[in-house]
Amino acid sequence: MNIVEVEQLKVWDTRTDQVLIQDSSFKVRKGSCMAIVGESGSGKSVTCRALMRLNSSHLRQTGMIRFQGEDLNQLSEQEMRRRRGKHLCMILQHGMSAFDPSCVVGVHIRETLQTHYNWNIRELERRMCHGMESVRLRNPAEILNRYPHQLSGGMLQRIMIALALVLEPDVIIADEPTTALDTISQYEVLEQLIQLRERIGCSMIFVSHDLGVVQKIADDVLVMKDGQIVEQGRMKSVLQEPAHAYTRYLVSTRLELSNHFKALMEEGS
Ligand SMILES: Nc1ncnc2c1ncn2[C@@H]1O[C@H](COP(=O)(O)OP(=O)(O)O)[C@@H](O)[C@H]1O
Ligand SMILES: [Mg+2]
Repeated sequence: MNIVEVEQLKVWDTRTDQVLIQDSSFKVRKGSCMAIVGESGSGKSVTCRALMRLNSSHLRQTGMIRFQGEDLNQLSEQEMRRRRGKHLCMILQHGMSAFDPSCVVGVHIRETLQTHYNWNIRELERRMCHGMESVRLRNPAEILNRYPHQLSGGMLQRIMIALALVLEPDVIIADEPTTALDTISQYEVLEQLIQLRERIGCSMIFVSHDLGVVQKIADDVLVMKDGQIVEQGRMKSVLQEPAHAYTRYLVSTRLELSNHFKALMEEGS
């Protein structure tokens, strides 16, 4: 069974008529993790934002995005807002950009949870603190009183993961969640994302330009180049027998992953 089915998704810039995503079709199996890989500018983030309907207003999209019996492309903005967070949750490359810089992070968390649940403040904070402790954030109450710029990138990502633990979304879209982090935090955040999947049994779309990272978490993979899907299939078979020249190139450069990171990954597995 598939949790998300995308058919002939097309995204273009109405100002220039430039097509950013060309006729993209793929499925995410329920409970699985599908990776999207490809070089910078290949359309990974535009694809993710298209699923969430969060692309800039000058971009338009057509095609079908089937999720829980509905076509997300047909929903009103209000209906879409109810599905964001609770059903479809996005974790971004820069944790910072997910938070309002002028408020302590707790404000964003409270607002998000209050949109979806009728919990009182105490209940809400109890659940959030519990989530934060499970991603090994110590003194959660104190962290919630900090501004985003007072926290490291790794901490912000873990706060987003803790929020996802509380929200229990059906699908998590993680767009390069580890790319901006130092090696140690990359490893920790990746481990937390793997555990998050195990705990809440969600499906996941995991974007990365790094096949080494993807290999650790994904069951399926979709390879993008210049706004098009050039290859898709099970992770193992694509790694073993990449059909497209670009995928072969990706597989060969994967070997150049930093040794330090590889050592950490092996220690943890
Ligand atoms: N808001 C936008 N307006 C116009 N073009 C955009 C916008 N966002 C991304 N693009 C263009 O779409 C293409 C794909 O970008 P993106 O999805 O961000 O790539 P990736 O995430 O794979 O690095 C790029 O050519 C980029 O310049
Ligand atoms: Mg991107």
